[in-house]
Amino acid sequence: MAKNWEQELIAKAESRKALIGVVGLGYVGLPLVAEMAEAGYTVLGFDVTQRVVDTVNQGVSHVQDVPSERLARYVKAGKVSATTDLSRLGEPDCLAICVPTPLSKSRDPDVSFILAATDSVAKTIRPGQLVVLESTTYPGTTRELMLPALERSGLKVGQDFFLAFSAERVDPGNPRFHTRNTPKVMGGITPACSRVVVAIYQPAIETLVPVSSPEAAELAKLLENTFRSVNIGLVNEMAIVCDKLGVDVWEVIDAAATKPFGFMKFTPGPGVGGHCIPLDPHYLAWKMRTLNYRTRFIEVAGEVNSQMPEYWVEKVTAALNQQSKAVKGSKLLVIGVAYKPDIDDIRESPAMDVIRLLQQLGGVVEYHDPYIPEFREEGLTLKSVPLDAARVRAADCVVIVTDHSSLDYEMLGREARALVDTRHTVATRTKRKAK
Ligand SMILES: NC(=O)c1ccc[n+]([C@@H]2O[C@H](COP(=O)([O-])OP(=O)(O)OC[C@H]3O[C@@H](n4cnc5c(N)ncnc54)[C@H](O)[C@@H]3O)[C@@H](O)[C@H]2O)c1
Repeated sequence: MAKNWEQELIAKAESRKALIGVVGLGYVGLPLVAEMAEAGYTVLGFDVTQRVVDTVNQGVSHVQDVPSERLARYVKAGKVSATTDLSRLGEPDCLAICVPTPLSKSRDPDVSFILAATDSVAKTIRPGQLVVLESTTYPGTTRELMLPALERSGLKVGQDFFLAFSAERVDPGNPRFHTRNTPKVMGGITPACSRVVVAIYQPAIETLVPVSSPEAAELAKLLENTFRSVNIGLVNEMAIVCDKLGVDVWEVIDAAATKPFGFMKFTPGPGVGGHCIPLDPHYLAWKMRTLNYRTRFIEVAGEVNSQMPEYWVEKVTAALNQQSKAVKGSKLLVIGVAYKPDIDDIRESPAMDVIRLLQQLGGVVEYHDPYIPEFREEGLTLKSVPLDAARVRAADCVVIVTDHSSLDYEMLGREARALVDTRHTVATRTKRKAK
């Protein structure tokens, strides 16, 4: 009689005897490794970057959300190890694929990392394996790109092996929600695939949300991130509207937010950054273009958000003008270059655009960021300078781009000769303190 792989995998989940493989050990993969190990599984991590594998094996974490002490505990107990040897992809019972999904230069989806990982898995796939795509991507990727590649092995999905999509929703640096307590949406190619993926993840994630297909799960993730992009775009446009009308946008937002239903507070800022919000909606826009449909909200929000650095640079120009100065030759101190507060990630950070635009106008730009000691981005190389009252006083204008919580905003507000605060953080914190 043919083996019932579904029952076998569910039993291995219950006994925690399933070996979990995580492919791609970055911001998403490493926290998943930690949660799977915490749940009692043994985890084998795969990455194509030797340095990443070496540090994981030394119990040293390169991801802020996974403290090294925690990782070292699992490594020491033999619960976590990592390898660059992709010929070992046949060993785990479950393979969670957490590779990057960037955009190409023409802002089309670049699924080459998913294709490469799928090719590697296809070479070693064996009966009784579950493959889960966690990377954010356009609807149809799991069924149209991965399934045919994996079925070329001669194995049948839902019977010999299982395939599902379950996007990671982790919000790096969030002190309240992390991989374990953020509900996880998952959709299998067949009902058996859904049952298996739920059984494997149940011990590691508090709330699982099964949906009827991988496409529904893929779209849920894109809806979430498009929702954020569109609402940030809306509130950024409202900031411009209020500015032109001479009304304080923050007062307007706070007043609107007193409505106990039907309103959700978003705040304006320097634009959007990170590996998700600026990129993911374009995956959906691209897919819809292939079906002759233009997703207008996505385009408009992207346009408004990407113009915000220019808006803030105009504010710097105006602030310098008040002191009868030009941007050219002025000393400008940028505070915060990470794409959001309290994290060490500069991917797609609007701070890069702000700095580049100021330099193009001849500004002499320095920055301070406690999380980013230095960076090299598309021709820009800068080192963080220490932050003290003398340096703040020496700047012709201070520009707050990212409001890390550890900084002394009172001092910034007091000492800066001119201040452009894209996050309204000095006023907000001063008001909070006064209360
Ligand atoms: N960073 C976030 O906040 C976040 C949140 C939710 C979802 N996501 C999504 O998760 C996915 C991964 O993002 P990330 O931020 O973890 O990326 P990352 O760049 O931090 O990590 C990806 C890792 O995958 C490795 N890799 C690349 N190709 C590989 C291959 N063929 N085989 C094995 N390893 C390979 C890289 O070396 C890297 O270490 C993306 O689709 C992203 O959109 C990211």
